Amino acid sequence: MICVPTPLSVDGGPDLRAVESAVAAVARNLRPGMLVVLESTTYPGTTDEVVRPALEAGGLVAGEDFHLAFSPERIDPGNEKFGAKNTPKVVGGHTPACAEAAAGFYGAFVDSVVRAKGTREAETAKLLENTYRHINIALVNEMARFCHELGIDLWDVIEAAKSKPFGFQAFYPGPGVGGHCIPIDPNYLSHNVRARLGYPFRFVELAQEINSQMPAYVVSRAQDVLNTEGKPLNGSTVLLLGVTYKPNIADQRESPAVPLARGLMAKGAVVQYHDPHVGDWTSVPEAVRVSDAAAGVGQADLSILVQNHREYDVDALASASQAFFDTRGKATEGEKVTRL
Ligand SMILES: NC(=O)c1ccc[n+]([C@@H]2O[C@H](COP(=O)([O-])OP(=O)(O)OC[C@H]3O[C@@H](n4cnc5c(N)ncnc54)[C@H](O)[C@@H]3O)[C@@H](O)[C@H]2O)c1
Repeated sequence: MICVPTPLSVDGGPDLRAVESAVAAVARNLRPGMLVVLESTTYPGTTDEVVRPALEAGGLVAGEDFHLAFSPERIDPGNEKFGAKNTPKVVGGHTPACAEAAAGFYGAFVDSVVRAKGTREAETAKLLENTYRHINIALVNEMARFCHELGIDLWDVIEAAKSKPFGFQAFYPGPGVGGHCIPIDPNYLSHNVRARLGYPFRFVELAQEINSQMPAYVVSRAQDVLNTEGKPLNGSTVLLLGVTYKPNIADQRESPAVPLARGLMAKGAVVQYHDPHVGDWTSVPEAVRVSDAAAGVGQADLSILVQNHREYDVDALASASQAFFDTRGKATEGEKVTRL
């Protein structure tokens, strides 16, 4: 099983170096009868065009001498309901026999195995899942901006819409999209479509544009909140609560808190942060760590809830604050609270 990181290279394309080096290690140890499965999220064709030739270079043939399959990694860190066992596992084989070998392996410890037609279908299924999230988050992020201008409570809108028992799934706006999946994986697909076919995957590019603007939008809204208090952002102390990319975990990859902090600093704010899961915030070393959130919110001119960790008593923090900006929706209410 190969499940190594698949980040973006500096030009925004796929960086498959970890996959290539892991495959090279497997190829050196490949024996007849083995099953090799790529799990890393990647563009369609990687298993067949990158992994297979490297494995076959030693003379063994995929589908004849060894089994080769792709099975996307679907783990959702921090999810208490769905783990490896009860999340269905998609497998796509190089041949039907490869698919059966992979299904047999996963079937030993996963409740449900779903067979895709081939490796490309399994690779693309993962990208569809993540692109779907990316686009729908962009949709509500764009709506958040105009609903604010129109005086419409978007969270109330979403609550009403989600009462429909079919055809709708709720997504929520936020200060930007983080993690190593949603902001990255759709680029594997759009880069591949453009490279092979010469035209853009417009939905992905638009979603990327909208979601990547959210930290700057939060900066401008923070400026508005301080303005109503008669304070300029320049020189004000702004405390960021939660700087990881999702609640209740320590993972900071691609966290929108980084561009948010940088945007606030660029306008002269003194940025502080509090996060029960983060010691030194190495991505933004200039930000000052606050160890006691309750005391910190009282001292900061503005506190911004960026990640609603379960350790936070958000109502208490908001009422102890001078001004509170909730970027997570209905985390709290009250006179001092402004919502995204
Ligand atoms: N973590 C998740 O929640 C998640 C969810 C869905 C999909 N994925 C996908 O799974 C893949 C792995 O993600 P991750 O979050 O587990 O990554 P990770 O950064 O945690 O790395 C996984 C492992 O790969 C090893 N590794 C790194 N470079 C290597 C190399 N060159 N050779 C051999 N081993 C190497 C690391 O030591 C680590 O043990 C990615 O393609 C990611 O998109 C991850």
